[in-house]
Amino acid sequence: MEYITLSNGVRMPQLGYGVYQVTKDECEQCVLDALDAGYRSIDTAQSYFNEEEVGQAIERSGIDRKEIFLTSKVWIEHFGHEECRKSVLESMEKLRTDYLDLMLLHQPFGDTYGAWRALEELYDEGKLRAIGISNHYVDRMVEFANFTRIRPMVNQMETHPLNQQKNLKEWADKYDIRLEAWAPFGEGRNGLFENETLQKIGQKYGKTTAQVMLRWHIQRGVIVIPKSVHKERMIENLNIFDFSLSEVDMKQIAQMDTATSAFFSHQDPAMVEWFVKMVEERKSQHDSSKEKKNW
Ligand SMILES: NC(=O)c1ccc[n+]([C@@H]2O[C@H](COP(=O)([O-])OP(=O)(O)OC[C@H]3O[C@@H](n4cnc5c(N)ncnc54)[C@H](OP(=O)(O)O)[C@@H]3O)[C@@H](O)[C@H]2O)c1
Repeated sequence: MEYITLSNGVRMPQLGYGVYQVTKDECEQCVLDALDAGYRSIDTAQSYFNEEEVGQAIERSGIDRKEIFLTSKVWIEHFGHEECRKSVLESMEKLRTDYLDLMLLHQPFGDTYGAWRALEELYDEGKLRAIGISNHYVDRMVEFANFTRIRPMVNQMETHPLNQQKNLKEWADKYDIRLEAWAPFGEGRNGLFENETLQKIGQKYGKTTAQVMLRWHIQRGVIVIPKSVHKERMIENLNIFDFSLSEVDMKQIAQMDTATSAFFSHQDPAMVEWFVKMVEERKSQHDSSKEKKNW
């Protein structure tokens, strides 16, 4: 395993396991499989609704908590100072831990500054070893780096060969913020697993397109958290530290960049409204279930 040192000196495994779209039913077994395969970094989030299962798996694995780098993310409806603090403590309870290695603000909407102050305080108290942001495009990231007391240590962004975040990475490097790739394979969209350039490169080393993509991220200094519910793929995705891509390979992959999201843009106002609607719906679901409990 290779490690990335964050700006505060904390060492983070450069390759971890992400559990977005891993259902509540499959999550505990998947995390157990990932830990058994050798992963020691797990990325979850409040909005994935599987923090409990991640916590159960870590406990059941018997692996010392200190050996595992655990990340979660605060969802928008918990932004603002008070709510954020409360929600982080709740996440820790669900994850059966009294500290987190990294806590991120999941989206760049709502009272992010209030929420950030809560993360700063929890960091000061030693409950969070590192704090960061996610989906903060380059302008928001630079703003956040300049108008906060503690600068984010990580920015988790959609990053893969078709959306390489070259400009953002340059600015992130300037501010000592590590780039962490979500969807390191672009979830396989636009035929990435079958891409000819990646296949040809892989053939030279006896590696799959998935392994070539992960190796490319690693050599760029980017942190990766690929997701798979299949143990054989978890193992395949870990097996990338026994070869190196040449400079020519790296340049060829660099040329694949379209600098366009394979998903959606956070700068699209219709998407911002979609997030607002989702938060409202979740709040009303939460309120009505609270009412039911009070009956
Ligand atoms: N901050 C954010 O807003 C945000 C957004 C999205 C994701 N994330 C984080 O980033 C993690 C990774 O992103 P992601 O899950 O969206 O996408 P991803 O890791 O790019 O792709 C996952 C997809 O690739 C497949 N796959 C995995 N390994 C493979 C292999 N070796 N060969 C062929 N197919 C393979 C998986 O299928 P199977 O599962 O069927 O194997 C799944 O369909 C998430 O789990 C989450 O922790 C964060």
